[in-house]
Amino acid sequence: VETAVNDGPLKGRHILVTSGPTHEPIDPVRYIANRSSGAQGTSIARALLSLGAQVTFVTGPADKAAPMGVDLVEVQTADQMLEAVNSALPADAAIFAAAVADWRVANAADQKIKKDGNGLPVLEFAENPDILASVCAGKQKPKLVVGFAAETQNVIENATAKRKRKGCDWIVANDVSPSTGIMGGSENDVTLISEDGAENWPRMGKDQVAQRLAEKIAEALG
Ligand code: CTP
Ligand code: CA
Repeated sequence: VETAVNDGPLKGRHILVTSGPTHEPIDPVRYIANRSSGAQGTSIARALLSLGAQVTFVTGPADKAAPMGVDLVEVQTADQMLEAVNSALPADAAIFAAAVADWRVANAADQKIKKDGNGLPVLEFAENPDILASVCAGKQKPKLVVGFAAETQNVIENATAKRKRKGCDWIVANDVSPSTGIMGGSENDVTLISEDGAENWPRMGKDQVAQRLAEKIAEALG
């Protein structure tokens, strides 16, 4: 059982973590979502707790159980995640590890869509709010905001541009091409991108990535 340790470098700090996928309904029984086990976000929350932080953990429907000891907020959709994140502020730091669906179904049906012989359903999409970007642009921006960039090509280039576009302090970039085995696996191979440049970390367990990140966060918050 993990609970916040009474003493640690993050004692007295409130840190917000988003994790897992979001589910965007098509009808009451179907949804669209990104692939996300919630493993990396869960590990980060646990590592922050182990350094003494108070952690608000806003998660979509993930495979991994949330760690004991967090203030848990469970959501389904990106809209709900945005609302939960805004309600959780202020925070000293925020880590956005969620794999938020970029689009929701604009013409979601109230009732189950049936194969009624009238042809295939046509889905219309609307863009979801960018939670990370909106927090960075907001009045309550935490002192340290960390985003993730899961890319399948031009990882460093895309992630560097993403950090600037979203206005966050750090981006944890990784290559999630199926051949890397990172999606759904227990290891990660990340590059930490900040204003100062890109720092490549050796491939290690997601728990170790989380621990190292939590330590860096503690250092940055001072
Ligand atoms: N993110 C978010 N809200 C969204 C989309 C993304 O908060 N609607 C956050 C993610 O949690 C992550 C970061 O933004 O920390 C980058 O997510 P990513 O999907 O890589 O970026 P996008 O801007 O959605 O770009 P892309 O077109 O590559 O998906
Ligand atoms: Ca996206």
